[in-house]
Amino acid sequence: MKKIGIIGVGNMGESIVKALLKKGVKKESIIFSEVKKERARAVRKIFGIKEAKKPGELVSNTDYIILSVKPQDSKTVLTEIAPFLDAGKIIITIMAGITTSNILSIVGKPVKIVKAMPNICVKVGDGVIGIAHNKIVKKEEVKKVKDIFEPLGQVIEIGEELMDAMTALGASGPAFFLLFLEAMIDAGLKIGIPREKARVISTQVVKGTLKMLAEEGMHPTVMRDMITSPGGTTISGIAVLEEKAFKGIIIEAIERASRRAKELSL
Ligand SMILES: NC(=O)c1ccc[n+]([C@@H]2O[C@H](COP(=O)([O-])OP(=O)(O)OC[C@H]3O[C@@H](n4cnc5c(N)ncnc54)[C@H](OP(=O)(O)O)[C@@H]3O)[C@@H](O)[C@H]2O)c1
Repeated sequence: MKKIGIIGVGNMGESIVKALLKKGVKKESIIFSEVKKERARAVRKIFGIKEAKKPGELVSNTDYIILSVKPQDSKTVLTEIAPFLDAGKIIITIMAGITTSNILSIVGKPVKIVKAMPNICVKVGDGVIGIAHNKIVKKEEVKKVKDIFEPLGQVIEIGEELMDAMTALGASGPAFFLLFLEAMIDAGLKIGIPREKARVISTQVVKGTLKMLAEEGMHPTVMRDMITSPGGTTISGIAVLEEKAFKGIIIEAIERASRRAKELSL
């Protein structure tokens, strides 16, 4: 059985540990390393997984090494684990803005790397995770990495050149969508619906719409056509959104976020 190591068990690291255990990965197959002593104690107690005192010790005893420390800690961790890496080990990095070539230049030798970009919804097992890998990672190893992330949500293979786009659409995406949801709730309030009721109605609109799209296998435009009748209320509202270039604004926001992700990864 291949062993999985996790360096940095913060927000994301914890979600990954939870997902792995939920999927039935044995406790004995997971090892973690965490600098915060309090945090490490809590992880040992809650999940019953083994702690490696040093990242190097973790790498020596595992095959898949997940790096989930903050990007600013990447150099320290990579420098520390470099001597323990060999051709059989696979680094899986979820650190935003750290590219495979950044990693190779710190490690200083050819190593297998998978770059993964999750979003916050992995915490509830319904996230989206974009993954890219360098050429030396074998097909069956990519499959294993996909299996590791599968309990966290949908795993999408994407070229590394599209990782900044993945960050903008997938990782920042929930924030754009939440702004829209907040606007709907405020609109409900403006037209006289009490705040809590406006929240329940707006949230249910979203939930039901997504469920219907999924269950009926429908394209968003087709579903929108179904509720947009001639001379009706929906088209009156849509006309305003079109007039104010609603779609154009969203496209521009996601393009800008993607450019920013690129700037931050330089
Ligand atoms: N949160 C998101 O929505 C999201 C989305 C996509 C990608 N990511 C990426 O996921 C990574 C983790 O994010 P997070 O929100 O989980 O961060 P976090 O909560 O800060 O977790 C990182 C943990 O690693 C510890 N750590 C730092 N250096 C270490 C070392 N040398 N050895 C072992 N542990 C070490 C940190 O301790 P200290 O706090 O003491 O440094 C902290 O407890 C980041 O690189 C981020 O870019 C996050």
